[in-house]
Amino acid sequence: MKKLKAFLNGKFIEKKEKAIALEDRGFTFGDGLFEVLRTKNSHIFFFEDHLLRMKYSAEFLGIPFPYSFDYIKEMALELISLNKVNDGELYIELTRGTDLNREHRYPSEDMQPTFFMLAFPLRQIDPENWKHGATVFPYPDLRHRLCEHKTINLLPNVLAKNFAYAHGGYEALMYREDHMGKYVTEGGSSNYFIVKNGRVITPEIDNILPGITRAKVIKILKSHGIEVIERRVYLEEFLNADEVFLVSTVSKVMPVRKIADREFTAPGEITMTAMKLYGRLMEEEKGRH
Ligand code: PDD
Repeated sequence: MKKLKAFLNGKFIEKKEKAIALEDRGFTFGDGLFEVLRTKNSHIFFFEDHLLRMKYSAEFLGIPFPYSFDYIKEMALELISLNKVNDGELYIELTRGTDLNREHRYPSEDMQPTFFMLAFPLRQIDPENWKHGATVFPYPDLRHRLCEHKTINLLPNVLAKNFAYAHGGYEALMYREDHMGKYVTEGGSSNYFIVKNGRVITPEIDNILPGITRAKVIKILKSHGIEVIERRVYLEEFLNADEVFLVSTVSKVMPVRKIADREFTAPGEITMTAMKLYGRLMEEEKGRH
């Protein structure tokens, strides 16, 4: 049996070692952040973007960010190589650290954060999702007001995605309500875009995750001369769209074929353009490092 390694607080350990204290605030309060990055051999895609997002949120939450980006990258590459992952995902988690008292309030100083990384082979996703489009389900967005930070408080996302999987789908599209009706915020682990009459619309960053893929896709579409509007998208508009696609580190650009009883052309023309341009961007980034 291959001994799988993890990186924890400055050391490589065997994954099965029980090395995190049970009183870690990540366990007891979900008091922490995470990132998921795509890796290919010894390349980590959009490393700086992901780390900047984590560092910004750590500052917002008052969690000390323990290492330099260069050190993290060096350790991450070592971890990927130790685990012999070719096509994979790098998981990084940062929590506020161990707090023996389990009090909600946290000591302002002297907290040693917990920082760990795991290197996985890429999760199994049916390639049909990219070829002919994914099935998604609407689900209420039960989350808090901190969705602009990638916190480890994922219970509503877990319930939403599990609902979708249990019904034969790939993703849940979560909705909230305002005085105008239901609006779709984001997927359980993705952002999304709709296309209507050649214009592309995606929700503005208003209590949703500022996805790295979302930002890249907006940029490449705009530089290709395609108009992209960022604003609230109502469920009704979503259902009346010409095309819908999901974006995330893992899904990349993925067409949506079906939501509830509504079927879309998948992949539609603009979705195909986004898939092609995003694929090219990843290739270019890999080539540059
Ligand atoms: N999820 N929205 C949510 C709620 C997410 O969890 C994710 C990412 C995204 C897309 O963000 P990005 O483009 O930066 O990956 C949007 C990761 C992939 C996950 O939980 O596995």
